Amino acid sequence: MLTTTIDTQSLRLRPFQSNDLARFWEIGHSSYEVARWLTGLTWPPVMTEAKAFIEQASAANPKTDSFPFAIDHNGQLIGGVEVQKPGDLNEFPELPTISYWLSEAAQGHGYMIEACVAALHWGFARAACDSFAARVFATNYSSQKLLKKLGFEAAGVCLRYSKPLQQDVENIIMHLPRDRFEALHGDADIMMGGAV
Ligand SMILES: CC(C)(COP(=O)(O)OP(=O)(O)OC[C@H]1O[C@@H](n2cnc3c(N)ncnc32)[C@H](O)[C@@H]1OP(=O)(O)O)[C@@H](O)C(=O)NCCC(=O)NCCS
Repeated sequence: MLTTTIDTQSLRLRPFQSNDLARFWEIGHSSYEVARWLTGLTWPPVMTEAKAFIEQASAANPKTDSFPFAIDHNGQLIGGVEVQKPGDLNEFPELPTISYWLSEAAQGHGYMIEACVAALHWGFARAACDSFAARVFATNYSSQKLLKKLGFEAAGVCLRYSKPLQQDVENIIMHLPRDRFEALHGDADIMMGGAV
């Protein structure tokens, strides 16, 4: 089970719990404005899929699995950020990746940049790796803006089948060297201290 909790200026990143299901369903899984940008969700949404995510996320093994953090603001779930184990990208099979979402109401306040900086400090310190990668739809401009603020740069394109859109979608592959991230956002080992 993932036990790490990270507090930032205005957020808490914490493990998912079984009692997150109702709110997760309401603000995330069943929101088309969130689901349409993520490749793996069935649309129309299916409660058993949301339940399976929460069960898997609550029981994630930090040694072998991806690390799905719930994001709380003022004690309320507003989104998620996941530090994923390597394997999502054929182009960078050895690199961990990051994915994230915020409820529609929580977007436009700078919360995700804050959450991703914390998750990447944790990810770089935890994985002791030199780079992260990410994948973003070519038309997802707010996510691309966020990735660029984090220090990611485009490194290629790929096609991915989107379950909610039921079609192949062009994705931009993004790459983040640790030194560029740390020059912008601080040293991961120092920021995390002994917390990993
Ligand atoms: C991608 C996503 C997380 C971006 O959310 P976001 O709130 O725009 O991201 P940020 O945390 O970077 O916030 C930046 C916005 O907050 C505004 N903001 C307000 N106060 C701010 C502050 N104190 N600091 C920084 N930004 C602030 C910024 O002006 C900026 O808005 P702009 O892009 O219109 O200029 C969100 O759109 C989302 O969840 N989309 C659906 C799922 C998705 O696309 N996931 C990613 C798949 S690759």
